[in-house]
Amino acid sequence: DAASGAPAGEQPQAAAPPRAAEPLTILFASESGNSEKLAGDIAKQARKTGFKPKVVDFADLDLAALPKEKRVLVVAATWGEGEPPARAVRAYGDLMGEGAPRLDGVEFGVLALGDTSYAEFCAIGKRLDARFEALGAKRVVDRVDCDLDFDKPAAAWIKDALKALAPAEPAGNVVAVDFARTTGGEAEEAEVSREPVTVEVVEHVNLNSSRSDKETIHLALAFEDGAPAYEPGDSLELYPENDPALVDEILKAAGLAGDAALRQALIAERDITTLSSAAIERFVKATGHAEARRLLDSGEARAWIEGRHLIDLIETYPAKLSAAHLTEITRPLPPRAYSIASSRKEVGDEAHLTIAAVRYASHGRARTGVASVHVADRIRTGAKLKVRVKPNKHFRLPADPATDIIMVGPGTGVAPFRAFVQERRAAEAPGRNWLFFGDRHFTHDFLYQLEWQDALEDGSLHRIDVAFSRDQPEKIYVQDRLYAQRREVVEWLENGAHFYVCGDAKAMAKDVRAALVRAYADVKALSPEAAEAAVAGLERAKRYQQDVY
Ligand code: 2AM
Repeated sequence: DAASGAPAGEQPQAAAPPRAAEPLTILFASESGNSEKLAGDIAKQARKTGFKPKVVDFADLDLAALPKEKRVLVVAATWGEGEPPARAVRAYGDLMGEGAPRLDGVEFGVLALGDTSYAEFCAIGKRLDARFEALGAKRVVDRVDCDLDFDKPAAAWIKDALKALAPAEPAGNVVAVDFARTTGGEAEEAEVSREPVTVEVVEHVNLNSSRSDKETIHLALAFEDGAPAYEPGDSLELYPENDPALVDEILKAAGLAGDAALRQALIAERDITTLSSAAIERFVKATGHAEARRLLDSGEARAWIEGRHLIDLIETYPAKLSAAHLTEITRPLPPRAYSIASSRKEVGDEAHLTIAAVRYASHGRARTGVASVHVADRIRTGAKLKVRVKPNKHFRLPADPATDIIMVGPGTGVAPFRAFVQERRAAEAPGRNWLFFGDRHFTHDFLYQLEWQDALEDGSLHRIDVAFSRDQPEKIYVQDRLYAQRREVVEWLENGAHFYVCGDAKAMAKDVRAALVRAYADVKALSPEAAEAAVAGLERAKRYQQDVY
């Protein structure tokens, strides 16, 4: 391969490419867009090797038609604690359920994406892989489980998968199967450059009052050569640096203090916080530490990792480590994605972010979020940062500017809605904009309060409903405000409004959805099932969109 000079995964691997285009379905379950992007990469390469690829989102999967497929490659992300991406939940449930059709005669392979910092690493990919087999499909390529740095293992898997699928026989009749529901004339979007670029911080402001127990940084970033063509709804990946004080602690514990090159590498390139069972295994392999091995063998490692980081490992199990060991044990430092809080129509060659500093204590040690505290503590106006646009075409304003929108964004979840309102103001969109915002205290935590007031005055925001959870004895959340306004909410939706949720995935996004289901049930006197179907219908129509983390 090296001799040919072609990039890995780009060359036809089949001994003889199929003579006629052979159908290949690439099914993806994506939350933040990585699986979707890989599905597109597979399609591109498959086309070159003589396939006729079709990319299908789990959200649009017609399960009954799946057995008619000859070849299916699945790219599946696992989200949070072993869950499927939100848009994939329905089809995933159907596929795992009793009504799933047999898949005899289907050849398949699974590429799993995940994050080793979660216990249920790649759980969805693993379950789909087992499920396809249980339903009678034939695995032609072994599953590969990827961590956040998936580029290389994914490229290798794609190469293997396409090689394994290449038909020995010339293609027979190619039967077109109506497998995917059409997603409805979405305009193709211009491709945004995926190259990281350096930006200058031109504004760095804490949006919370000094008496708040939160710290949320509004960051304005200026692109020197013009902003990349980001759209409202897109995210910006930020390449952070680790806390130098933590790096020094690690170097000291490892007996490597004074190694300046290693220190710089650990600051800028390695993930020195996240622990995983795999990382402990690599540690044990490198050091031969007997006690750490016992931890692994006991089956307690997963529980022990909870709330602990690399520093805890090497302090609890002291061992002399080399620089190479530290590099082996850690994974590359991944960039962190933040929803963009601005519209280019209003801010020109800038992009704005809204970043809450993550600080907490666990196992007697103060901990900080890598990127958020890098931004809060070590970045100031004038500093440079490396960033890259991460497009999210599943979180988009309605194509018709006259369509109303309802936005639910507590805390930093409000960020993309600042972009939405800016965009609709600049475009003089006639549709109405309704925002539900929530945070702890009105006086300390009302993010962008003055801007929302201005927007109400200039008519670019039509309504705002706020939920300050800690201003009264009982908790009040955005979903409570939503339910209280249920008559009008349902009226807007019946009138064609789009509904958006951004913020915490664990509880808030689910609670908001449940509140909307209850709202439908109450306002329209529907059974719980019929109300659920109404909201599911909004999702299928892409009128209920979420960007959660
Ligand atoms: P709390 O921290 O007082 O519980 C932004 O973080 C806001 O979201 C805070 O007001 C927070 O309230 C609130 N929040 C916490 N859990 C929530 C949930 N399940 N649904 C909606 N909002 C929630």
